Amino acid sequence: MLKSFKLRNLDVFPNTILSPMDGVTDAPFRRLCRVLSKNRMGLLVSEFVPTDGDAVFCLDGHKQLKFFPEERPFGVQIFGRFPDRMAAAAKKIAENLHPEFIEVNAGCPAPKVAGKGSGSGLLRDLPRLQEILHDVRAALDASRVDIPLTLKCRIGWDDESINVMETLKIAEGEGVEILTVHGRTRLQGYNGLANWEWIGKVAAAAKIPVIGNGDVNSVATARERLETYGVSGVSIGRGAMHNPWIFGQIADAWEGKPEHQISAEETLDVFPLYYKFKLEDGSSEMGALGRLKQLAARLCKGFDDPEMQVRQTLLTAQNPEEFFERLDLLKNGIAKSMRYDPNRLVNLNGAKDTELKFGDQFAGR
Ligand SMILES: Cc1cc2nc3c(=O)[nH]c(=O)nc-3n(C[C@H](O)[C@H](O)[C@H](O)COP(=O)(O)O)c2cc1C
Repeated sequence: MLKSFKLRNLDVFPNTILSPMDGVTDAPFRRLCRVLSKNRMGLLVSEFVPTDGDAVFCLDGHKQLKFFPEERPFGVQIFGRFPDRMAAAAKKIAENLHPEFIEVNAGCPAPKVAGKGSGSGLLRDLPRLQEILHDVRAALDASRVDIPLTLKCRIGWDDESINVMETLKIAEGEGVEILTVHGRTRLQGYNGLANWEWIGKVAAAAKIPVIGNGDVNSVATARERLETYGVSGVSIGRGAMHNPWIFGQIADAWEGKPEHQISAEETLDVFPLYYKFKLEDGSSEMGALGRLKQLAARLCKGFDDPEMQVRQTLLTAQNPEEFFERLDLLKNGIAKSMRYDPNRLVNLNGAKDTELKFGDQFAGR
């Protein structure tokens, strides 16, 4: 099993990527994952940056572009449907911010993105995707910095039009240097399970590193996906919200260290840390509270707490003071003796195994 992969002369170890998640993986969330993993994350990527709206791409208007030197190697992900706008944005970002790579998004399923032909909408128009990749690569070549271009895609629009092998061919032809494949169709949205058989087929056929994405939520699933499907690395999204230690746990396992058991106390201590990071990043207190609750909704599933009391107690707090008062009460009360296991969750959709099916979240939209 490979434990690292190459991005040009960069050795990416461990072979993990924090999947970009709009509204989640901003600089404070990435900092949280970095601190908890003791800085052992393979690659970090920005939330996706829109390019369609700007006749002239303006760096100032996009908060997603903020990243810190210690986050390197760092990539900026852009999305759009106009090749010239994508290319101009890529060049400006590369020349001014010097990320390690620029990534094109061909995966977003949201109707307001995919419905307009951006994100996974590009999978219904591969010639356009090709033109975008071509023009972005040419713009990077013409820029003062020569950095890699990467692509993130889904396996296709729906079950009847799975075209990820064509996407791979186009990507390789246009000089893409890493392909991340989220093993769902656009129609699925985030429902059902990712189809790793397709990811494996792409990895077997590819000349470039292929990163597999979908439902990786533990060291065991990361190992199993890497061993079974021949991918060069795994990209982890919602799994990091359930378990922000996951990158450190994988790094520990790859380094041959024993698994660190996360305690209930350690889990609850994540909240003041995350709150501090949000405020230091300029968030309002209520804005930061929203993010605390977003994290609590997923993180707290790891408690042995059938009634979900810990989760409910935190989610119903009206303001930060109340949230932290309740947190202290939990720490010294019911949560004190609870067992915590981030791997307790069944799957990242929150559905029980018996309810899992290949869904069609975006049918008709
Ligand atoms: C709230 C949310 C926002 C997302 N935003 C982005 C994004 O900006 N760019 C992107 O490529 N994927 C985005 N994704 C998709 C994830 O990166 C990832 O492909 C998907 O969640 C499957 O991986 P997982 O099962 O590890 O979560 C988003 C997913 C979620 C849940």
